[in-house]
Amino acid sequence: MSNYKLIELKICGDKKGSLIPIEPGVNLPFKIKRVYYIFDTKKGVERGFHAHFNLKQLVISVKGSCDFIIDNGEKRESIKLNKPNKGLYLDGVLWREMKNFSSDCVLIVLANELYSKDDYIKDYKKFLKIVKN
Ligand code: TYD
Repeated sequence: MSNYKLIELKICGDKKGSLIPIEPGVNLPFKIKRVYYIFDTKKGVERGFHAHFNLKQLVISVKGSCDFIIDNGEKRESIKLNKPNKGLYLDGVLWREMKNFSSDCVLIVLANELYSKDDYIKDYKKFLKIVKN
């Protein structure tokens, strides 16, 4: 079963500015094995267009904004990621597309597994077959 939800991250602010801690078991429902960030996405470029067999992720736009489209095989939802305290948690086989990147957008992604190209489902029809079974 796939699952996704928004996680509102608590901002620890003081007069110096803002800070958000992310800690497994506290405000993150998995142990982190990998962190990557997506930035300098060129104008008009759309990214993603894949699902994963087995991956948990938390995606945060720490700067700028983009639209994150999630498709579970039955419905599609577009979520605007535009705040450093808005985390999108993804678990299981979900098709994702990322669009409308602002030029300053920095998406940080925390994941519970190392990079594996074998974990990718890049064909939408194959994705549908997997989720419908
Ligand atoms: P890709 O997953 O295609 O990114 P997007 O879906 O956002 O366009 O990854 C882009 C490139 O980066 C691709 O050559 C694979 C590589 N990559 C890694 O080496 N390690 C990683 O953890 C990720 C996510 C990608």
